[in-house]
Amino acid sequence: MTHRRPLAAANWKMNKTLAECASFFETLNAKLPKSTACDVVVCPPFTLLERSVSLARNQVALGAQDLFWEAQGAYTGEISGMMLRDIGCKYVIIGHSERRQHFGETNQSVNKKVSAALKQSLVPILCVGETLQEMESGRTKQVVQTQLEEGLKGISLQGDFVLAYEPVWAIGTGKSDTPEQSNQTIGFVRTVLAKAAGQEFAARTRILYGGSVKPDNIKAFMAQPEIDGGLVGGASLDPHSFLSIVEAIGA
Ligand code: 13P
Repeated sequence: MTHRRPLAAANWKMNKTLAECASFFETLNAKLPKSTACDVVVCPPFTLLERSVSLARNQVALGAQDLFWEAQGAYTGEISGMMLRDIGCKYVIIGHSERRQHFGETNQSVNKKVSAALKQSLVPILCVGETLQEMESGRTKQVVQTQLEEGLKGISLQGDFVLAYEPVWAIGTGKSDTPEQSNQTIGFVRTVLAKAAGQEFAARTRILYGGSVKPDNIKAFMAQPEIDGGLVGGASLDPHSFLSIVEAIGA
């Protein structure tokens, strides 16, 4: 079996001031062991990214929560992959369900963003996941398959690439998916990825679970063979709780 280095990713969403960000990294830097058995990525809002790059210790990489697909120009309010690269950002979350839900993100815009991120050598963290209604009507596989196929259409995948399976009904609700069920869906996501990008690429690509990940449930997710880490929202805001999740992911 291909070894995939686990990954712990924090998605701060629209949270934290500069002072709160500095205090988070102060604690994280002090408590994070010199070497961790997993990759650690923190994705703050744009306003905190550059500061976070300088505050974070070397082994902690920074990611953005979105990007625009053009490199520069008259696109008021947007941030490009080129700009993210320029400030030392390594990862970028693309197609998070909150962007799909509230900001009109579609599989087509996701597709352009993935392509733009790869062009700038940023590692996409591409999010897929079904809504409650889709889950209840038994359409989970169909939904994630379409999101993936349309999101990756025409893109030649190579290098580092991360997927996150986040069932929308499990985000911020305290109701996580069961480890067994998410393992099954993530296994399915891997087979769809294999069709799009080849068996070898799919076998080495990390697929994270996201949705109400907490220090007390992450171990059960990590015990599943298909799950390579977590994309953590609420529980990543507190450095102590994020640290215990990092520890469990790297264990
Ligand atoms: P919560 O961990 O707060 O459920 O959020 C998950 C998420 O959306 C991470 O991207």
